[in-house]
Amino acid sequence: MDEATADQQDGEAPRQQPARVSRAERIAEAGDRTVGTPTCEDAHMSARGVDVWYGDIHAIRDVTLDIGRNEVVALIGPSGCGKSTFLRCLNRMNDSIESARVTGQIRLDGQDIYSRELDPVALRARVGMVFQKPNPFPKSIYDNVAYGPRIHGLAANRAELDDIVHTSLDRAGLLKEVRDRLEEPGTGLSGGQQQRLCIARTIAVNPEVILMDEPCSALDPIATARIEDLIDELSNNYSIVIVTHSMQQAARVSQRVAYFHLGKLVEVDETDRIFTNPQHKLTEDYITGRFG
Ligand SMILES: Nc1ncnc2c1ncn2[C@@H]1O[C@H](COP(=O)(O)OP(=O)(O)O)[C@@H](O)[C@H]1O
Ligand SMILES: [Mg+2]
Repeated sequence: MDEATADQQDGEAPRQQPARVSRAERIAEAGDRTVGTPTCEDAHMSARGVDVWYGDIHAIRDVTLDIGRNEVVALIGPSGCGKSTFLRCLNRMNDSIESARVTGQIRLDGQDIYSRELDPVALRARVGMVFQKPNPFPKSIYDNVAYGPRIHGLAANRAELDDIVHTSLDRAGLLKEVRDRLEEPGTGLSGGQQQRLCIARTIAVNPEVILMDEPCSALDPIATARIEDLIDELSNNYSIVIVTHSMQQAARVSQRVAYFHLGKLVEVDETDRIFTNPQHKLTEDYITGRFG
């Protein structure tokens, strides 16, 4: 008795042989569908069928992607392909762009972040953002970090606020360097220190997810390495989405990579696989430097 017959006798469907299809066939079959593994089991955030228009410009099309809990997902792709647009959807930063229109669904822990009941300011405390250019407020180092906790009423008194500021600076790997000069302006720090200050400011309000839009592109290699170490460490407590133009960086910090091309999410997969065995020709062309 062959295996299939045995399976049938057990009341199960015959097992399918794994299909051997060529890359060309896979791409043709995929059509506009994202190749790979855009969804995951323990999704912290999930985007389904997200489109964004700026007036007539259709910036991203039908993007479906999950961000796993404590996962680092890197968004890569040529300039103008919609990485920042997608990132900004995740904490409703596009709300502040008048021409922007977002459709589809985005959930944070199952809750629709575009629902009327959800306050965008509260959302942005849960889904924090770090920008390309470090942008400390023109305030002291202390007040930069204390800003969010003050607004959101997270500290009952000065001692609690002190504690939040110290802990946040420590987790951002900056406390040792600034402990004795918390009253000095944040803008007086080096670029790399400013970026860590911005990360401290973001984590001071206890976010769940941190979005980073090319956080190292204005930094030198040493400052970049420090931020990358920090991302690794932060991923113990937060889910992180990082846009990067550096494939080396994506390879170093992320567990999954999402490749965008002309507003479409072409392929998502585990980082090693994307860089060693991409399924889609567009991904392969980009990572091998033939495009972008
Ligand atoms: N505020 C905006 N107003 C109008 N068009 C925009 C705006 N921001 C981005 N776009 C357009 O949307 C597309 C995607 O841009 P963006 O998300 O910034 O790409 P990336 O971050 O991958 O470089 C581009 O065509 C860009 O010109
Ligand atoms: Mg961008």
